[in-house]
Amino acid sequence: MALLNENYLKLKAGYLFPEIGRRTANFAVSHPEAAIIKMGIGDVVRGIPRPVADAMKDACEELAHDESFHGYPPAQGYDFLLDAIAEHEFGSRGVTVAADEIFLSDGAKCDSANLQEIFAIDQIVALTDPVYPVYCDSNVMAGRTGDADSSGRYAGLVYLPCTADNGFSPPLPEGHVDLIYLCSPNNPTGAVMSKQDLARWVDYARREKAVIIFDAAYEAYINDAEIPHSIYEIDGAREVAIEMRSYSKTAGFTGVRCAFTVVPKELLGGTRGDGDVSLHSLWNRRQSTKYNGVSYPVQRGAAACYTPEGSAAVRDLVEFYMGNAALMKTELTAAGYTVFGGDNAPYLWIVCPPGIDSWGFFDVLLQKANVVSTPGAGFGSAGEGYVRLSAFQQRDRVEEALERIRQL
Ligand code: MLT
Repeated sequence: MALLNENYLKLKAGYLFPEIGRRTANFAVSHPEAAIIKMGIGDVVRGIPRPVADAMKDACEELAHDESFHGYPPAQGYDFLLDAIAEHEFGSRGVTVAADEIFLSDGAKCDSANLQEIFAIDQIVALTDPVYPVYCDSNVMAGRTGDADSSGRYAGLVYLPCTADNGFSPPLPEGHVDLIYLCSPNNPTGAVMSKQDLARWVDYARREKAVIIFDAAYEAYINDAEIPHSIYEIDGAREVAIEMRSYSKTAGFTGVRCAFTVVPKELLGGTRGDGDVSLHSLWNRRQSTKYNGVSYPVQRGAAACYTPEGSAAVRDLVEFYMGNAALMKTELTAAGYTVFGGDNAPYLWIVCPPGIDSWGFFDVLLQKANVVSTPGAGFGSAGEGYVRLSAFQQRDRVEEALERIRQL
């Protein structure tokens, strides 16, 4: 019999969002009359901006003709998109990222799960608690941890608790770590890291020769002009950080799939021998072996996000969802809830009422208000006592959900 990778058996429960989907579906079967409003998983609900959809349609038409047909895309992406990303995502903010340091992919989720593969199995990994579960589970699957304890924490991982007391800003580890996952704007707390916060981490990584995997999938939601959009706004970050971005939440691409990861050429990894190796070339080798790239129509759609019409439409989408977040924060606060996040992120991190834990409040919201949330405990033990609400919903559904929550 083929033996399996027993590291998978260490995983605590099902992946968080399918588990929420399962509970919601069970409730819907037993309560067919309930008009359920989904504010759990951060899945967008509005249509793809017209200029972006038109660019994809035109690209599909090109594929229908021999003279304009495109086969396998270039491994990292087409130049038209890589150049646009370098200019509009980074150059416009005074950040140097070269087009050939950008690797397109089908999602920041996949990249954040796959990046650990290019590091040695005995590397010490630091994660925030609460955390986007993919960073943790992918390291468990790879065999970088022992078993989980009763609170769900895996032996061998270094947890950085992000609590109301520290403003949800991850504290530096007490000792040495090799790999650090940071996410700002944060999923799930909605907190953002200031320039000073990020500079502390870049200094730490340079001192410890560690690598930061920086997830900036929600950077478009930053309102505060002082908050950095890229870790490369911090001096020295190019030597220690990989950054991930996505079109999922900005251009409505959760179903279309397109994201990118920046691996600067300066970034090196050590070997047990005597030479350091470029992580850029290692990631290139990994991606070109295991991945065949983003389809031509999707890349054309992503590039259309940078035209004047496309970028205005993307900005409108982001502003729409942030309008929801502002309304949710105001109304829930007025209803007596303690609410964090929602100012520079599409997620609100809400303290559960006294005496109710995360899954308990998830159940109350589902059963009494027919609103789906995400229990904070699903993101780690420091998430216990919170639920997360996503602002990715239609405005009338948000208003209805708020009214029902007020009635609880
Ligand atoms: C979330 O709800 O945390 C995200 O939508 C999940 C993801 O982006 O994979």
